[in-house]
Amino acid sequence: MRAGWLAGVAAGLCVGAAYAAPVGASDPRLAAIGDIEQAHADFVEHCAGCHGVRGNSAPAALPELQGRVGWFLCMPQSRAYLIRLPNVAHSRISDNAQLADMLNYMAFVVGGSSAPAHAQPFTAQEVAQERAHPLVSGSLTAERRHHALEAIKRCGAPASLLLNYEGENKKRG
Ligand code: HEC
Repeated sequence: MRAGWLAGVAAGLCVGAAYAAPVGASDPRLAAIGDIEQAHADFVEHCAGCHGVRGNSAPAALPELQGRVGWFLCMPQSRAYLIRLPNVAHSRISDNAQLADMLNYMAFVVGGSSAPAHAQPFTAQEVAQERAHPLVSGSLTAERRHHALEAIKRCGAPASLLLNYEGENKKRG
């Protein structure tokens, strides 16, 4: 049983390497993802239309996930923020383990090396608990700012986390 589980993890890591963004692809926390191929497919199907296949949406006016979203695993409340986002909490992915896999794919593959060292992967139980309390759209900007400031203060996230993407406010030309 245990050997089978380990073999599954190893296989998952190989698939992960094939799909992964270059940074963070070898993160040992990827081992928590039961089916990384499914997690990747779920991200592409449900999220990439707005966020980009690799979480790269700049210069669109929405937060860039690539290389950044892992910072929100800094604190329990900011982890919960990721699950409680309307598009995540109300996702058509009803199976909480499958949604946890997709969020771990987002955090540790799309997010590259941005997840703090102490951050543990999402669990199905955590997802079940937090998605029952979805955020409402109107409060999202203030909510995000609060969690970004905490990540900057407590986990050493770059100040640019307050922006939607690196260089957002730079004048063009
Ligand atoms: C229709 C477009 C759209 C889809 C689909 C979508 N999002 Fe989003 N997402 C947004 C927008 C816009 C924001 C900014 C907050 C807001 O206004 O909702 C956002 C914010 C986020 C954030 C916050 C990032 C940060 O830095 O604060 C995360 C994480 C996220 N989305 C993940 C997902 C995931 C995972 C999915 C798929 C289940 C998804 N989104 C699907 C548009 C979308």
